[in-house]
Amino acid sequence: MSGFVTVARLDEVPVNGLKGVVADGRGIVLINREGEIFALEDRCSHEEFPLSSGDVTDGEITCVLHGARFDIATGVPLALPAVLPVQTYEVRLEGDDIQVRLGG
Ligand code: FES
Repeated sequence: MSGFVTVARLDEVPVNGLKGVVADGRGIVLINREGEIFALEDRCSHEEFPLSSGDVTDGEITCVLHGARFDIATGVPLALPAVLPVQTYEVRLEGDDIQVRLGG
């Protein structure tokens, strides 16, 4: 079993924008960077605020609550107050469907 599940259609995630989805009970934020899709857990590692409320620029997502920033490809924190990474998910496209590997 591949573990990939469809979570959204490509046209639901605007270019250079984001969309929060729920798959298998997990909140996931999808990010479209120039047509390439990234997926991270939709929960800031600082105080668990939804990252899907944030902004995306230059490969980084910013949490609106206290300003922590994360690399959208790796989940690594780039600015305080976050010090722990957020989980990332493998993404693939099946036609116009965005699929995320949930693992397990
Ligand atoms: S909850 Fe995200 S920076 Fe504090």
